[in-house]
Amino acid sequence: MKIINIVGARPNFMKIAPLMDVYKNDNRIEPILVHTGQHYDEKMSDLFFRELQIPKPDINLEVGSASHAVQTAEIMKAFEQVVLDQQPDVVLVVGDVNSTIACGMVAVKLGVKLVHVEAGLRSGDRSMPEEINRVLTDSISDLLFCTEQSGIDNLLAEGVSKEKIHMVGHVMIDTLLKNLERAGSSTILDDLRQSHGIDGDSFAVLTMHRPSNVDDPVTFSRILDALEVVQKDLPIIFPIHPRTRKNLSSMGLQSRVESLKNFHLLDPIGYLDFLKLTSSAKLVLTDSGGIQEETTVLKIPCITLRQNTERPITAEIGSNQIVGTDTQKIVEAYRNVVSGNWREPQIPPLWDGNAAQRIVKIMLELLAVNPR
Ligand code: UD1
Repeated sequence: MKIINIVGARPNFMKIAPLMDVYKNDNRIEPILVHTGQHYDEKMSDLFFRELQIPKPDINLEVGSASHAVQTAEIMKAFEQVVLDQQPDVVLVVGDVNSTIACGMVAVKLGVKLVHVEAGLRSGDRSMPEEINRVLTDSISDLLFCTEQSGIDNLLAEGVSKEKIHMVGHVMIDTLLKNLERAGSSTILDDLRQSHGIDGDSFAVLTMHRPSNVDDPVTFSRILDALEVVQKDLPIIFPIHPRTRKNLSSMGLQSRVESLKNFHLLDPIGYLDFLKLTSSAKLVLTDSGGIQEETTVLKIPCITLRQNTERPITAEIGSNQIVGTDTQKIVEAYRNVVSGNWREPQIPPLWDGNAAQRIVKIMLELLAVNPR
């Protein structure tokens, strides 16, 4: 079975790594790895390949950044030729980024089976570009692999036939569990002690890059108001996404951030350093999707700076609290966490490190093809 696997943006890399690992030990599968080039900076891409020991992509489409329409269209144009040349049996896409839907559409229009890993998640918020990518990708996929029950419920409610849907757990958590020990030897905490005077586990980690938060100066400032209060008693470490860095400066917010004594901006950091940081933190503040799930497994309190989540299990049984972007609510949630007002999280079913194994087994059973 010849499978083209797609990666494009940072959150895709940790999801593809365990699948590439399983393929290595199965001679029935011929994997091809295609990088669309949606993310291209060393710290947003190559670093993750090295750390997670992902094989070098067989093909890089090198599309880079552009508007949604242009980026999606450029990926489609370049990927169509790859599918025509390679004649795969299956195209496998992960997550919800522009590369996911772009390659998915190319595959189905050429009659190639499409597999979506991390299917069925819905925030219900159609102003979020990822939500559009999720709905569209799921609607054209032949096989849909879900991480949580809400994914199955959403797909069934949208009329997807149940034979196509499989609960398998979470490939991103496969990667987390596999690398937790290695992350233990990251020196980031020592480095931060020396460079920024940060002590032990007395800090919060912040990530923020959603357009709804960082492209709108009013929302961005409202969140900064809350962070200003928090950093007065707990240092905040903020590895900053390139999009957020650009907006801070274009919105004239850079000097405000630099004036905050305990607010520490870092360049984007690698997987192992980030895992060490989040697993050692008092709490995490984020608008990311995946980090809500990682903190649940790590049992670190997570304050989500969004009005909704497409990963409700993290808030139902995990360590996540959906707080939104209101200044007072963020400060209140922070005070609750530090005063110990937080329940012990549970790990969602099948988030056990074996999701990639399950996916490959099901693909081989259900998408079996005649030998060439
Ligand atoms: C994309 C995904 C988002 C995911 C995020 C993770 C979509 C619609 N969005 O958002 O779901 O959570 O990745 O990071 O696919 N840039 C660089 N260097 C890079 C990549 C980007 O400087 O290597 C800058 C560029 O200025 C670019 C901007 O970041 O315009 C945004 O990049 P883009 O890939 O369009 O979206 P993200 O915000 O990264």
